[in-house]
Amino acid sequence: MSALAVGRLDVTLLGRRVLGDVDLAVPSGSWVTLVGPNGAGKSTLLKAVAGAVEHAGSIGLDEVSLDGMRSRERARQVAFVPQEPTRPDGMNVVDYVLLGRTPYVPYFAVESASDVAVVEELLDTLELRELADRPVTSLSGGEFQRAVLARALAQQAPLLLLDEPTSSLDLGHAQQVLELVDELRVDRGLTVVSALHDLTTAGQFADRLVLLVDGEVVAEGPVREVLTEKLISAHYGAAVRVVHDADGGVVVVPVRERTARLTKRTDGA
Ligand SMILES: Nc1ncnc2c1ncn2[C@@H]1O[C@H](COP(=O)(O)OP(=O)(O)O)[C@@H](O)[C@H]1O
Ligand SMILES: [Mg+2]
Repeated sequence: MSALAVGRLDVTLLGRRVLGDVDLAVPSGSWVTLVGPNGAGKSTLLKAVAGAVEHAGSIGLDEVSLDGMRSRERARQVAFVPQEPTRPDGMNVVDYVLLGRTPYVPYFAVESASDVAVVEELLDTLELRELADRPVTSLSGGEFQRAVLARALAQQAPLLLLDEPTSSLDLGHAQQVLELVDELRVDRGLTVVSALHDLTTAGQFADRLVLLVDGEVVAEGPVREVLTEKLISAHYGAAVRVVHDADGGVVVVPVRERTARLTKRTDGA
């Protein structure tokens, strides 16, 4: 059990209200994805749940306030993959992933054999074995993104927050990583909240979508109710076709509204 309930979340940054009165309910074991244009507040919402940004309002996991927890306890409950993680200087991949075990290592002690075993398994799962001794500063964007995910999974927290976890990954790695998260969700009952900017991908991996615009929730519900041409054109200023494929998937395709006009002009010239 690990249901997330966010109530009346408010965040003000540099005097600007970035999130206003946001409510969010994520049932235990489900996957909810935040979508919305650049600057909507997706990252800020995830940071607030992770305890990385000051906020007003309540954030509860199974009705226990996350804000009331010590950071060590919070890190056992919530793992966070930030959109722009920092790369510690002089740290290799295996030590970086081991950082995910910190909330379990007693003070003044070193990692146990079981901590190391958790990390070893993740190095294999995320194809990091050959990079284990490389400094994280030397990795490509995609390689580092897999290391960041491994570190978060090493925390073995019941709530996983993913902020654009596939932005640097190629198509194959992106699918593998999201499938892995979904397997963990099903097998271990993880609750997942992600922000993904690719709407088609967002629809493939979430039970429900939440559309954030200017710090407020403007739509939420099952994928088909949120990924509509009307909502996307209104809030993204984008021209799209939304295609429903035979097995229930929703595909969002960008189109050029001006194409027809341009073609006509060329014909007439
Ligand atoms: N540290 C900060 N200080 C001031 N404004 C910020 C800070 N971080 C984010 N913002 C602003 O908050 C808004 C929401 O940002 P963000 O949550 O990153 O949006 P998203 O992830 O949806 O693109 C943006 O207008 C952004 O400029
Ligand atoms: Mg963001």
